[in-house]
Amino acid sequence: MDTQSTKIKPEEIKIEIINEEYDVQDFTSYEKELVDFLRQDALGNQKQRLSVTFLWFYERKLVSYITLLNDKINLESDLKEFFREKGIHYKSLPALKIGRLCVDDRFLRRGLGRLMILTAIKIAQEMSKTRSGCRFITLDVKRSQDPERDPLPFYKKMGFQIFREQKTGPTSMYLDLQFIEEA
Ligand SMILES: CC(C)(COP(=O)(O)OP(=O)(O)OC[C@H]1O[C@@H](n2cnc3c(N)ncnc32)[C@H](O)[C@@H]1OP(=O)(O)O)[C@@H](O)C(=O)NCCC(=O)NCCS
Repeated sequence: MDTQSTKIKPEEIKIEIINEEYDVQDFTSYEKELVDFLRQDALGNQKQRLSVTFLWFYERKLVSYITLLNDKINLESDLKEFFREKGIHYKSLPALKIGRLCVDDRFLRRGLGRLMILTAIKIAQEMSKTRSGCRFITLDVKRSQDPERDPLPFYKKMGFQIFREQKTGPTSMYLDLQFIEEA
């Protein structure tokens, strides 16, 4: 069996919140900005209470990470109308933001990206039930000219919708948790 293409199962993953004990220097990605964030900023941001970074380990190796923080969606045009029709008249609605998400180059297309999104959904669902309101998951997608490396189709597959088309810069996307089954 070709183990390199086998999907990694949730029970094979250990998730830890970043701290000084973990060596993140060996993490590799073609998205250099995401490697630099993990090496240089993730721990500092955590200490400043700006974000929480979850390290994912498989067979004791660091294979991916996801960084979460709070966000809000300012309701404009279509979305404003959509919520008005439902009797919701607030100017903004609460969200959980995926600040960073990255799979090590050596573990791409083995299901880790999907599992990390499902985990973020679960966190947002639990939070909004028992702790603090949260209607959306948001993220900003850095587009790539290389179709193999463009993450947009991945996020569309996971149910995210484009929030605002940008001519330059990242594409903002959101997932409305009201239409997602309980994880
Ligand atoms: C985008 C990324 C997180 C996807 O993670 P992954 O673990 O390789 O993706 P998965 O194996 O979980 O894929 C889930 C599904 O999305 C598809 N998919 C993954 N990447 C894709 C891409 N670039 N284009 C099209 N489809 C893609 C997979 O084929 C799979 O489809 P299936 O369910 O029909 O089999 C990963 O490519 C990555 O970390 N890239 C570098 C950093 C990056 O771009 N991060 C996003 C910043 S905005």
